Amino acid sequence: MSPYIVGALVPLLVALLYQNSKNTKKRGVPVDVGGEPGYAIRNSRFPILLETAWEGVSTLAQLFELACKEHADKYLLGTRTLISKDTQVSADGRSFEKLHLGEYEWLTYGEVFEKVCNFASGLAHLGHRSEERVAIFADTRAEWFMALQGSFRRNISVVTIYASLGEEALCYSLNETEVTTVICGNKELKKLVEVSGQLDTVKRVICMDDEIPSSASLEVQSGRWRVVSMADVEKLGRENPVDAVLPLAADIAVIMYTSGSTGLPKGVMMTHGNVLAVVSSVRTIVPGLESNDVYLAYLPLAHILEIAAENLVAGVGSAIGYGSPLTLTDTSNKIKRGTKGDATALRPTVMAAVPAILDRVREGVRKKVDEKGGITKKLFDFAYARRISAINGSWFGARGLEMLLWNFLVFRKVRAILGGRIRFLLSGGAPLSGDTQRFINICLGAPIGQGYGLTETCAGGTFSEFDDTSVGRVGNPVPCSYIKLIDWPEGGYLISDSPMPRGEIVIGGPSVTVGYFKNEAKSKEVYKVDERGMRWFYTGDIGQFHADGCLEIIDRKKDIVKLQHGEYVSLGKVEAALIVSPYVDNMMLHADPFHSYCVALVVAAQPALEEWASKRGIAFASFAELCEKEETIKEVQASLVKAAKAARLEKFEIPAKIKLLSDPWTPETGLVTAALKLKREAIRKAFSEELSKLYES
Ligand SMILES: *[C@@H]1O[C@H](CO)[C@@H](O)[C@H](O)[C@H]1NC(C)=O
Ligand SMILES: *[C@@H]1O[C@H](CO)[C@@H](O)[C@H](O)[C@H]1NC(C)=O
Ligand SMILES: *[C@@H]1O[C@H](CO)[C@@H](O)[C@H](O)[C@H]1NC(C)=O
Repeated sequence: MSPYIVGALVPLLVALLYQNSKNTKKRGVPVDVGGEPGYAIRNSRFPILLETAWEGVSTLAQLFELACKEHADKYLLGTRTLISKDTQVSADGRSFEKLHLGEYEWLTYGEVFEKVCNFASGLAHLGHRSEERVAIFADTRAEWFMALQGSFRRNISVVTIYASLGEEALCYSLNETEVTTVICGNKELKKLVEVSGQLDTVKRVICMDDEIPSSASLEVQSGRWRVVSMADVEKLGRENPVDAVLPLAADIAVIMYTSGSTGLPKGVMMTHGNVLAVVSSVRTIVPGLESNDVYLAYLPLAHILEIAAENLVAGVGSAIGYGSPLTLTDTSNKIKRGTKGDATALRPTVMAAVPAILDRVREGVRKKVDEKGGITKKLFDFAYARRISAINGSWFGARGLEMLLWNFLVFRKVRAILGGRIRFLLSGGAPLSGDTQRFINICLGAPIGQGYGLTETCAGGTFSEFDDTSVGRVGNPVPCSYIKLIDWPEGGYLISDSPMPRGEIVIGGPSVTVGYFKNEAKSKEVYKVDERGMRWFYTGDIGQFHADGCLEIIDRKKDIVKLQHGEYVSLGKVEAALIVSPYVDNMMLHADPFHSYCVALVVAAQPALEEWASKRGIAFASFAELCEKEETIKEVQASLVKAAKAARLEKFEIPAKIKLLSDPWTPETGLVTAALKLKREAIRKAFSEELSKLYES
């Protein structure tokens, strides 16, 4: 054989072998690090931590300017026009707004850059100095992104506030950061006016909408605030240009307020370098991300995931179309029947989502299929099973032509819900259930990248690679993060554990933020710098590393409680085991060091319990009454014991007493987060009486 042919064959063989060994592909490899001893893993493709994916770029302002020059004539920001707004009144007297929205209207990179420069000059002309902070308090929209970039061009730090944080947190964070200019929409401006008495440092308000609410005029008249529209600020800047004051990598770009699990919100200080490291990492994760992608933006920009995603999309020359959670699809609540939702109008190729939204998509599709029944349901279930077995590694599953057939016959319609062109989904904020991950994978035919990171690490942490189809894990370290596990002997988690090293997750690298604003004590507790100068953040989450270098989150340090006699109870683990009882809709286990047993608050599953009651011939006037009955509680408790035995729980892990609750826990009640995670403190507070009664009797 000629050496040339051999030369050509060897790489081919290697490639084939490599492909076959995909399941054992090392995605993360051990790395030698400083600081507290532990078991550390880095991304296998990046021996050196990634700080920037663009040569010579070290800030978000630089990245944006570079992209605007390179892609001047391409579309950057798209917004839908409002054609009409109807108010419908439902049978129970509540009114709903229905929107008829038009096609997307676009601004090019060149146009956006000009507006951003004008806005920056206008801010300066209004008297906002670089060392003062602005706050952006608005829904996700094009003006948000432009206000952010405009502030960056003046080296101004931007304070972001979750709209859902509430009044007290809003006042607290604006006051703590001594914000002088608030940039908001007219809806948020109305809220600001209501609390204006508590906002001592605010001098100016820039309203993203031209129409300024009349209630704001009082503040203007009293001379407290200057209220101007964003368009006027741009005009001011156009007529009075001011040179940019560009920030450095170590300057603070964003102070992001997030809810502390207890009490007041905390402001996480993120530098340009922190955010850029994450933007750069995500660039390496989304396969083939380039200037032809279209991104649908609708998650809150007060979340780091969305800020990073939009800066990335704008950094590579792609387009961002804005939408909202309530107008996302043709059947979304606020969309007028028969008109298009954001996804069908935009036809995005890339989207970000939180698990709660994907769960809703999945439920929606399932419900529709079940309603149709008959052949539709049979076909759907069959196609789904065929694809699952392929993904699960069976050679007999639906691949190739058969996969195309199912995609055409069955899944095309599901894909069409999101416009039909999605090729990559980013999911973050909370763990995604394995079922939902599979479901979206199969129905959308697009991989989901699932991430694990925290605001404190600027979302840096781990990310599942697009070809990793395993479920229940959060992937390998991103290129800008080292992930270290350290022993937590009290909780029984050690890096010497077998078959996998386990321990508290500590994240190191250039995305680890500077700390909490004006809160050195708390910062010192959870941020540490090692002898080699590397910053580490102690997450309080417990994880284990699989052999291929991928992380799985298994527990939370805070959620492990020591009982009176020294046994440790992992609340999350026990809840996950007990929630399989058919009578349980949701539950929270409670344990403390003052008692030798635990108790639980159980939200009853109404249909299952009512069915049981009617079978038993138990009469009840209301579901609430049924939940109070001794025999009902007994029945539920017996089912918990059964579930506990099946999961091999210890006796002390089984709640000795329970309180049955008839009202579900929804995000609106404030008892669970938007991603439906338990808010333990809030639940404990709301049911403190019930809890103490459980211990009394
Ligand atoms: C940016 O602003 C910060 C805070 O006001 C300041 O410490 C820093 O020196 C500024 N950077 C530049 C390049 O002027
Ligand atoms: C605002 O912050 C100052 C310190 O910066 C503090 O003294 C004051 O009590 C705060 N006011 C409110 C309403 O929180
Ligand atoms: C996939 O394979 C795993 C292990 O081989 C098995 O436990 C699981 O039930 C399979 N899932 C499906 C949906 O076939």
